Amino acid sequence: MLRHLMALFLLVLPLSLAAQDAGAPEPGAVPAIDRSATGGAQTLEDILRRQKGLPVDDTFRRGNLGAPPPGVPQLGTLGGASDPDLWRALRYNEAEMTVSNAQPGGAVLIQDGGIWWLEFRRGPLATYGGWLLLGTLGLLALFFVLRGRIRIEGGKTGRTVTRFRFIERFAHWMMGGAFILLALTGLMTLFGRKYFIDWFGLEFNAQLLIVSKLIHNNVAWAFMLGLVMVFVMWVWHNLPDRTDLTWFAQAGGIFGKKHPPAKKFNAGQKLIFWSVILLGGSISVSGLSLLFPFQLPLFDATFQVLNGWGVNDWFGMRPFPTGLSPQEEMQFAQLWHAIVSFGLMAVILAHIYIGSLGMEGAYDAMGSGEVDEAWAEQHHSIWYEKVKAREAEAGGAEAHPAE
Ligand code: HEM
Repeated sequence: MLRHLMALFLLVLPLSLAAQDAGAPEPGAVPAIDRSATGGAQTLEDILRRQKGLPVDDTFRRGNLGAPPPGVPQLGTLGGASDPDLWRALRYNEAEMTVSNAQPGGAVLIQDGGIWWLEFRRGPLATYGGWLLLGTLGLLALFFVLRGRIRIEGGKTGRTVTRFRFIERFAHWMMGGAFILLALTGLMTLFGRKYFIDWFGLEFNAQLLIVSKLIHNNVAWAFMLGLVMVFVMWVWHNLPDRTDLTWFAQAGGIFGKKHPPAKKFNAGQKLIFWSVILLGGSISVSGLSLLFPFQLPLFDATFQVLNGWGVNDWFGMRPFPTGLSPQEEMQFAQLWHAIVSFGLMAVILAHIYIGSLGMEGAYDAMGSGEVDEAWAEQHHSIWYEKVKAREAEAGGAEAHPAE
């Protein structure tokens, strides 16, 4: 059951990451390669296939660990093994050795499967992720120039209604504050080596990243707690309904003077809510897997489920890799964590814009919790009517908090 949930969690987002590792689009068997010309060592064809990310049958190296052929006595103190034999044995986890780390991955001293991860992390991940954030900021700036601030028509009335109770604002700011810290420290971890070393020097970067990691790993708990609180308090108001269709049909009233009717949350806000819950949830789960790689491996089980469903066939890919070492688990978890985080950061930039600069009167909802009646009527008319009706029922007594 847990496996299926994990698979679903990961499936809500594009499968590009897994496609990267499965890397090679060419499914099918590994061709037999004639190695007689090299005396059994690797050939140019082996190297080219590996460079293209195609599968290579490497049993010729795996098995070549220096053991003397049967019936031949050992030579010298090291037996028949040379240094390259020993390194090959280490690389394929065949060397006899003792390590003090008792964890399953502790005895993996060389992990050559990490190169594609390293290159993906410092290449496409950093490049596209960085451009996504800059592009989002650019689009928001352009939108601000073209549309300007969304004003309260006719100005404020001076009368207010309660929109969010203290506990709701507390949960929002705990989650939001934590997310901003996590985003900043996460970005420093990804980009520090590339930029900060040149700008501020090695020592500064090292100290900065030590502090970043400390903040990142600890503040994550506040984010997760806030996420759960927000989910419990607001999920009811974020279930899709017919008013959302009208909202979409009128593009949220963003470009004209029309204000589509809305309940407590309009369709745009529902999209933000579900992005935060699903993407934030997926970031949390993959983050926990990074914190506890030996106890919470995610991807092996998920890939098995996806292969079982035949998801790789839908995209014409080879099966997703299974039998992952803890190190490989972490590589997948790190990339997934970062890719989904970039997506959520872009969404949140747009959210911060509309909740502050972009719309007059919006910030009060999360600031004091009280919004102007004109704002409430224009942006959440159905909700506003309900609050007023309740107030009238209660005989004009104190306004009821936003339900
Ligand atoms: C400086 C940063 C932020 C500002 C100024 C801000 C502002 C606001 C405001 C004004 C609202 C209420 C909107 C209404 O009355 O209808 C709101 C709601 C919300 N905020 Fe934030 N927020 C910030 C950061 C965040 C972050 C980092 C997250 C999540 C990681 C987040 C998630 C949400 C969610 C899920 C809602 C409810 C749905 C919505 O209104 O879109 N906020 N925020």
